[in-house]
Amino acid sequence: MSAAALAIAPLDDADIGAVTLLWERCGLTRPWNDPRADIALARRGDNAAVLVGKQGAAVVATAMVGHDGHRGWLYYVAVDPARQGHGFGRAIMAAGEDWLRARGIEKAQLLVRAGNEKVRAFYEALGYGEQPRVLLARWLDGRPLTP
Ligand SMILES: CC(C)(COP(=O)(O)OP(=O)(O)OC[C@H]1O[C@@H](n2cnc3c(N)ncnc32)[C@H](O)[C@@H]1OP(=O)(O)O)[C@@H](O)C(=O)NCCC(=O)NCCS
Repeated sequence: MSAAALAIAPLDDADIGAVTLLWERCGLTRPWNDPRADIALARRGDNAAVLVGKQGAAVVATAMVGHDGHRGWLYYVAVDPARQGHGFGRAIMAAGEDWLRARGIEKAQLLVRAGNEKVRAFYEALGYGEQPRVLLARWLDGRPLTP
């Protein structure tokens, strides 16, 4: 089936189990990020959404998208491992970028762990390029930085 057959829409409550399972299968979950809490926070306001691509009832692709009033960000970009390499990643990223454009956001940004060359090649194929910036972060409850 082609990427054109992917139906992309904001996540429904009924999708949450399948979406978190997909993120686990894709290795995107981290002990310090509760995926269900991340989903709830993204759905709380109108500046973020979790987009879900389905073939029939099957959850095939996801992207969490949001903006801070200036830049747009993408997280949890995932395609079912059994369906990778067929354009679904490109399709869900395009949907995320359309979501940002529709809200007046001009630039999309995302984080890739250093050394993850495979994922970097995917984003580069979509026109993303490295920006010479250093990412500084701090947990607001004061705990030590996670890797
Ligand atoms: C990264 C991921 C979303 C890509 O999804 P996908 O459906 O396989 O990607 P697509 O088939 O849409 O590929 C889009 C383009 O990227 C290119 N691409 C994808 N993976 C690539 C790789 N490993 N090396 C080089 N190019 C790659 C494809 O060739 C394609 O280019 P083209 O359209 O010009 O032919 C998917 O592999 C995935 O879910 N990985 C695990 C989760 C993850 O690491 N997410 C990113 C977190 S930062």
